[in-house]
Amino acid sequence: MKHLLKLADLSREEILSVLNLADQLKYERKNGIFTQHLKGKKLGMIFQKSSTRTRVSFETGMYELGGYALFLSNRDLQIGRGEPVEDTARVLSRYLDGIMIRTFEQKEVEDLAKYGSIPVINGLTDYCHPCQVLADLMTIREYKGAFKGLKMCFVGDGNNMANSLMVGAVKTGMAFSIACPEGYEPDAALIEWAKKEGTFTMTTNPEEAAKNADVIYTDVWASMGQEGEKEKREKAFKGFCVDEKVMAAAKPDAMVLHCLPAHRGEEITAEVFEAHADEIFEEAENRLHAQKAVLVKLLK
Ligand code: CP
Ligand code: NVA
Repeated sequence: MKHLLKLADLSREEILSVLNLADQLKYERKNGIFTQHLKGKKLGMIFQKSSTRTRVSFETGMYELGGYALFLSNRDLQIGRGEPVEDTARVLSRYLDGIMIRTFEQKEVEDLAKYGSIPVINGLTDYCHPCQVLADLMTIREYKGAFKGLKMCFVGDGNNMANSLMVGAVKTGMAFSIACPEGYEPDAALIEWAKKEGTFTMTTNPEEAAKNADVIYTDVWASMGQEGEKEKREKAFKGFCVDEKVMAAAKPDAMVLHCLPAHRGEEITAEVFEAHADEIFEEAENRLHAQKAVLVKLLK
């Protein structure tokens, strides 16, 4: 593992190895053990979009590992004024030990890795969100014990979350179903891959997708950068809501996950959200542990 650009780059074994280390780091932290795996290491964190969880979990994660994290906003970086990513990559590689980047285009993340000489971590693009899904997988295993035989159902936009979740599900042996409106399907190449490599179904009916699911997942109707499509999307996604009907179709002990931030009354009802708040906030906490594991794997 040299970078974390997208989940598809990782083998099943690499994913499980990150999850095992994440479990260990979580256990150690609960017992007050903070091993300085990254003593003196520096992580640059480029943010071209907003963030609560990603920024705070990476920053505190680096601190807990004995390293240091620099918050780099595109409002301050020359990259925001058009300095090419090729040049930024080569400059930052001379100062830092790793870069985390949240941006729009996947190509920008891939180019940082291509032109730089230090590990690059994708902290969300329009295409995928691998760090989130590592935390999601960790949470699922924590609650369900294992992946094999489970069914994960995603209700909503075939966005960055859906793209990464289907890869994570297939790689760990879970069946994956998605309910999305026509025209809002996940990446076409990933659909083909998932159909070949795993159990993948797609429908426009949330209750059908949720049938016998062990994990129900949802995300916002309009992602960052799509604010201008808000009204159009509100119409298109009407009914694509994790509510009591969707939950009734799922297994009685189904868990609910949400990457957050959540919009109650849109993609999830307040009732379902609160009934599953323990799982959802454990998932948010697990961002810290899963990313610390990624940092140790890449930067140590
Ligand atoms: N889930 C997630 O990535 O949250 P932030 O946008 O707050 O980082
Ligand atoms: N799909 C959402 C995920 C936020 C963590 C977005 O890209 O805004």
